[in-house]
Amino acid sequence: MQQVKAVVARAKGAPVELVTINVPAPGPGEAVVKVQACGVCHTDLHYREGGINDEFPFLLGHEAAGVVESVGEGVTGVAPGDFVVLNWRAVCGECRACKRGDLQYCFATHNATQKMTIAEGPDAGVELSPALGIGAFAEKTLVAAGQCTKVDPDARPAAVGLLGCGVMAGIGAAINTGAVTRGKSVAVIGCGGVGVAAIAGSALAGASPIIAVDIDEKKLEAARGMGATHTVDSSQVDPVEEIKRICGETYQGAEGADVVVEAVGRPETWKQAFYARDLAGTVVLVGVPTPEMTVPELPLIDVFGRGGALKSSWYGDCLPSRDFPMLVDLYRQGRLDLDAFVTEEIGIEEIEAAFDKMHHGDVLRSVVVL
Ligand code: APR
Ligand code: ZN
Ligand code: ZN
Repeated sequence: MQQVKAVVARAKGAPVELVTINVPAPGPGEAVVKVQACGVCHTDLHYREGGINDEFPFLLGHEAAGVVESVGEGVTGVAPGDFVVLNWRAVCGECRACKRGDLQYCFATHNATQKMTIAEGPDAGVELSPALGIGAFAEKTLVAAGQCTKVDPDARPAAVGLLGCGVMAGIGAAINTGAVTRGKSVAVIGCGGVGVAAIAGSALAGASPIIAVDIDEKKLEAARGMGATHTVDSSQVDPVEEIKRICGETYQGAEGADVVVEAVGRPETWKQAFYARDLAGTVVLVGVPTPEMTVPELPLIDVFGRGGALKSSWYGDCLPSRDFPMLVDLYRQGRLDLDAFVTEEIGIEEIEAAFDKMHHGDVLRSVVVL
């Protein structure tokens, strides 16, 4: 057991606090990781607002990279000193998805068994709920060893840590779920961190055109920097018509994009994605809807008549052991600009300020560096 500083959300809506927590020595199948960098994601804010569940106090942070400090009994995949990106898909190898070879869908991912706890104050000893089973706004965190993916140690922690969540979700939505390749046209609706990552992934895969759609000109500018060939301000023009027009200019007879990624998570933008794809095209929903949202009015004949696929993308359908090292290598080769996602590096005490900036759409990612 050791004590470290960490950022905790104690109660619904209350500002986060920097507190001392207890991190147990790793047990069987577990690892303690010295965190070097961790991005601030919408999901962290969502936890703080009680939007995920009520299991306060939360240990926030989940887009992280660091160095393995110690491992528990039976751990063979990683060793002390390894540079790792943390993931929230430690595959079990036993569930139905894993057994049939679809490890990226694992239905029984796991986290550390032991609990980290608050070390001081009136709630000393209270167990923490780590965000997405990670909890990396902390000098050190306890995770399942399978949540650690070893990558090139020369990579910048603040950049590659982002692969742990939003950036992987976006890249994977395009290349894993949408199967984007050379010769495909892509449109991405919503150009926040996830959407621009889908654009970067599409560019990496050689797709063209790559059409970015957003209602905010700042976001469209960021999208251009990530490889968008065209941008559409959907507060001004009908994005469906624009996507059809642009694709038709590139590919004779095209009536939309081959793949449309929805990275907002709203019924109206999903419907735009549905109608902006070409016949036999694919819609990928990576934006996360809220429970009360419903599929918009949609003639069933259009679902049938347009063919293709309507898919959702969980965590970019990524397999960390396959995708993280590959993407880190492409980053090291200068083919994937992960640095461009890091708007600023901040201290661990600046997370509330980072939430404010996120709220105003001023940043792609603020990254806490420890
Ligand atoms: N049409 C087009 N773009 C829109 C619309 C709209 N009607 N409404 C919002 N947007 C844009 C915003 O301007 C912003 O650029 O969608 C983007 C959303 O980006 P962020 O809020 O930064 O969210 P991000 O982190 O990218 O996540 C997007 O994916 O993983 C999920 O939970 C996440 O649902 C969220 C989505
Ligand atoms: Zn499994
Ligand atoms: Zn996240």
